[in-house]
Amino acid sequence: MPFRWILEIECWVLDIQKRVLMGDKKDYVIYSEEDICGIRKASQAAAQVRERLPSMVRPGMSTKEIDNIAAAFIHSMGGVSAFLGYRGYPGIICISLNDEIVHGIGRADRILKEGDLVSLDIGVNVGGFIGDTAVSFVLGGTNDPDTLRLLDFTKKALDEGIRAAVPGNYVRNISEAVEKIAKSAKLGIVREYCGHGCGACLHDPPEIPNYVTANRGPQLRPGMVLAIEPMLNLGTSRVITDSDGWTVRTSDGKLSAHFEHMVLMTKSEPEILTWLK
Ligand code: MF3
Ligand code: CO
Ligand code: CO
Repeated sequence: MPFRWILEIECWVLDIQKRVLMGDKKDYVIYSEEDICGIRKASQAAAQVRERLPSMVRPGMSTKEIDNIAAAFIHSMGGVSAFLGYRGYPGIICISLNDEIVHGIGRADRILKEGDLVSLDIGVNVGGFIGDTAVSFVLGGTNDPDTLRLLDFTKKALDEGIRAAVPGNYVRNISEAVEKIAKSAKLGIVREYCGHGCGACLHDPPEIPNYVTANRGPQLRPGMVLAIEPMLNLGTSRVITDSDGWTVRTSDGKLSAHFEHMVLMTKSEPEILTWLK
């Protein structure tokens, strides 16, 4: 298929351009066994918060109260927030409701009610290593078919993205797997925010878009740690950012969901680091 070749040649040119621009800087990170032990601990701490926080969220609470609970929780595990202060972010975790996609800041005047779609994104630093994981759920549950489709398929997109994280594949194979599920469910794919390498820093190369791009990205190798995080919308993929400079929401006001896991590339299937053991 000639089109395929054109894409490949384009990638080649892009790769060379990038190498010239970045010098010897790698576009991925390979971690040592020792570092991986640290990343495992941080990931498990983040996973604890992700698993236990949702049951503490009650209607009538403010998002600031949730942020406070998250802070106490993170500190009780010997960690600190990996988000607080990151590029000036003022919260402990990110709490995004309904049409908010990501980066919602806890606020005392933002009161939760039953039926709200809540997305929690948790970044924890334990001993200099980072765990980053996210979950979405409806407070009190829901029977709404559209909301259930959004949640089920965003989760499925993450699962399929993880399945594509095997050595020999490229970052693009992860993107492709996520995009396929999103398209099959007719969900909007957020383009402005991506998955990423993670471990010693919150955001390391490579970027992991949730859609196929012209650049296939680096080849996947054992020792790479990736945060895969589809952000999918019931309507448009277009986003707007609030005047707080952080809260990102859908431009049509429809619901958005976000699930995130960190995975360690191995010689075969990936190890899901933020899967609670
Ligand atoms: N949502 C981002 C991620 O999962 C991190 C948030 S950065 C912050 O990679 F500064 F907004 F906290
Ligand atoms: Co995150
Ligand atoms: Co992330």
